[in-house]
Amino acid sequence: MTISPPTSILFFTYIFILLYTINAVEEVETHIQVYFHDIVYGSKSTAIRVAQATSTYTSLTAFGAVVMIDDPLTETPDLSSKLIGRAQGMYAFASQEEFGLLMAMNIVFVEGEFNGSTLAVLGRNAVFSEVREMPVIGGSGKFRFARGYVLAKTNNYDLITGDTIVEWNIHVMHT
Ligand SMILES: *[C@@H]1O[C@H](CO)[C@@H](O)[C@H](O)[C@H]1NC(C)=O
Repeated sequence: MTISPPTSILFFTYIFILLYTINAVEEVETHIQVYFHDIVYGSKSTAIRVAQATSTYTSLTAFGAVVMIDDPLTETPDLSSKLIGRAQGMYAFASQEEFGLLMAMNIVFVEGEFNGSTLAVLGRNAVFSEVREMPVIGGSGKFRFARGYVLAKTNNYDLITGDTIVEWNIHVMHT
């Protein structure tokens, strides 16, 4: 078979683009485990309810409440263990059937290799389910082009204060 010149130019251009694309999408996978502390009680609270509807007060699922958070993410379930980052953003009670939260937050890392880099998390969190999955939809710094998921599992829920510790396993692909 003979390839006419215009076709061969197209062919090599195609190969070049293909190789270039393969090179450009070299990705790594990172797994980070942290413990999320949602402190709603006391003067050192990190989660503050900023809005609700009149009907929220009578809703069994707190439907309509919006909470702003700046929650610490630590290395172990102990709040005084090493601070890895913070979860900054908000969650809203978005279900009338169960405790189903809309989570919209940025994780900012303050430690190690990922210090200063962020991950954007947007997802549903049915807090009484054993394991919840929230999508990671982007990132910055070392986490450019990030996508992945967070698996969240409650570690401790204080019935008296409402403070919660959640184990987060963050899995991300990024460049
Ligand atoms: C993280 O980065 C900030 C800003 O560049 C810096 O001040 C801080 O010392 C760094 N922390 C660690 C643990 O490297």
